[in-house]
Amino acid sequence: MADNTTPAIELRGLCKRYGSGDTAVDALKGVDMRIAPGEVVGLVGPSGSGKSTLLKCLGAVIDPTAGQMFLGGEAIFDGVWKVKDLRTLRRDRIGFVFQAPYLIPFLDVTDNVALLPMLAGKSNKEARRRALELLEALDVAHRAKSNPALLSGGEQQRVSIARALANNPPVILADEPTAPLDGERALAVVKILNDMAQQHQTAIIVVTHDEKIIPTFKRLYHIRDGKTYEESVGK
Ligand SMILES: Nc1ncnc2c1ncn2[C@@H]1O[C@H](COP(=O)(O)OP(=O)(O)O)[C@@H](O)[C@H]1O
Ligand SMILES: [Mg+2]
Repeated sequence: MADNTTPAIELRGLCKRYGSGDTAVDALKGVDMRIAPGEVVGLVGPSGSGKSTLLKCLGAVIDPTAGQMFLGGEAIFDGVWKVKDLRTLRRDRIGFVFQAPYLIPFLDVTDNVALLPMLAGKSNKEARRRALELLEALDVAHRAKSNPALLSGGEQQRVSIARALANNPPVILADEPTAPLDGERALAVVKILNDMAQQHQTAIIVVTHDEKIIPTFKRLYHIRDGKTYEESVGK
């Protein structure tokens, strides 16, 4: 990324150790990353190399052991958490897209997307209006009133992306988002993420094994033995 912009995401020397003593596992051993607003980067590495651990630290789901994490230039972690309310951080500043969409079965598609904005204090009407707008952008508005269980895998994944975008977070973390999808659908999901990044200046990290989508990233990080290596694809 260009040096003159404040990164949306910056990691410096990030470490994560699970457990202690003889059974300790050092999953991250000093990870450095910089991602600009509007950038979509891939993160690839073998199973067990620390990809999910990295996303969980950045998403404030687990505590890093050492190092620094910055969002939009603000230190959120520097040996210890620098923000008091991690729930608010997760709700307002990070969107998650998982391999399995985890949609809530007793809410219709619209309310699955509107739920977080409602919890963040938006009126139900405003939250549903925004949800519908996103469902339209993602080409699933025709499913707005459906029970999520009745949707195809591709439709569910697009709803989960709409949900991740609902609070307009500056950062989206996607852990193997195309794993359940065929090639064409997988590329469509990547295109949506790229469009959203451009429109909203969202910084997006996509963890993936998916050979079909890896060539679409302008920048790719490899993770091996708990460390990241950048590969410039030069497109
Ligand atoms: N909760 C946990 N407790 C102990 N070890 C863990 C835990 N979660 C992950 N690990 C270990 O940390 C390493 C990285 O795991 P993970 O981040 O899930 O890798 P990836 O997502 O790349 O497959 C692996 O050795 C894994 O066994
Ligand atoms: Mg994983």
